[in-house]
Amino acid sequence: MDELVIFGTGGHAREVAQLVADINLAQPGRWQLLGFVADPHAVTRIAKPLPAPMLGDAQWLVQHPAVQAVIAVGTPVDRRDIALRLRREQPELRFATLVHPRAWMAERVSLGEGSVVFAGALINVDVSIGSHASLNLGCTISHDCALGNFVSLGPGVHLSGACSLGEQVDLGAGVSARPNSHVGDRCVVGAGAAIAGSFSPGCILVGVPARAVRQAATSASV
Ligand SMILES: CC(C)(COP(=O)(O)OP(=O)(O)OC[C@H]1O[C@@H](n2cnc3c(N)ncnc32)[C@H](O)[C@@H]1OP(=O)(O)O)[C@@H](O)C(=O)NCCC(=O)NCCS
Repeated sequence: MDELVIFGTGGHAREVAQLVADINLAQPGRWQLLGFVADPHAVTRIAKPLPAPMLGDAQWLVQHPAVQAVIAVGTPVDRRDIALRLRREQPELRFATLVHPRAWMAERVSLGEGSVVFAGALINVDVSIGSHASLNLGCTISHDCALGNFVSLGPGVHLSGACSLGEQVDLGAGVSARPNSHVGDRCVVGAGAAIAGSFSPGCILVGVPARAVRQAATSASV
């Protein structure tokens, strides 16, 4: 049994706690969820009771390098900032990679450290997914897709073959992508959009077919 701490206290953190519980049902004793940590200034949009104790802030993790952590913060840019900060302050910290027992991953799929894959996700052959990625319920990823570090895929995202997503790309619920599409680093794609073609970094895209409507905000700090 490995000790695990979830970074985050919002809806996504509660989803990850459920994922951990489901893994433990399928593999009894796989994880011991010690609790949650969060930055004191973090704003939780939907605050609800957590299924394990609040342990403290990032310093708690820095002082406990033997536990594994997963960053359960939905926004890719924030997830990256937290990961870089934790790595800088505690180089020995290990990040847990969590895959729901009812997700399916074909042969030759690689999944980076700290990534989470929720129930119903289907990932076909020869797909690479970076670190600290989040694939929500029911995503389907076809052959030869390449997803960068810190990507977030909302529920029901569908990527056709050989699509590529840069780092910190944020795809809203129900986004679909035509084969060979490319979305550049830090793009945010609105719920229900249909991606066809290539998009340069930092755009906010909406619609069917997706069009860039403005530039995404950049990260405040690391
Ligand atoms: C695209 C998005 C990022 C824009 O957010 P925002 O900057 O707060 O934008 P607003 O809500 O102020 O909307 C700006 C305009 O875009 C339109 N718009 C927003 N989201 C849209 C979408 N998904 N598709 C089409 N148009 C959209 C709005 O109607 C509005 O149009 P208007 O200027 O004519 O009134 C957001 O609406 C979105 O779709 N996020 C995805 C969230 C999601 O699915 N998360 C999954 C979590 S599990």
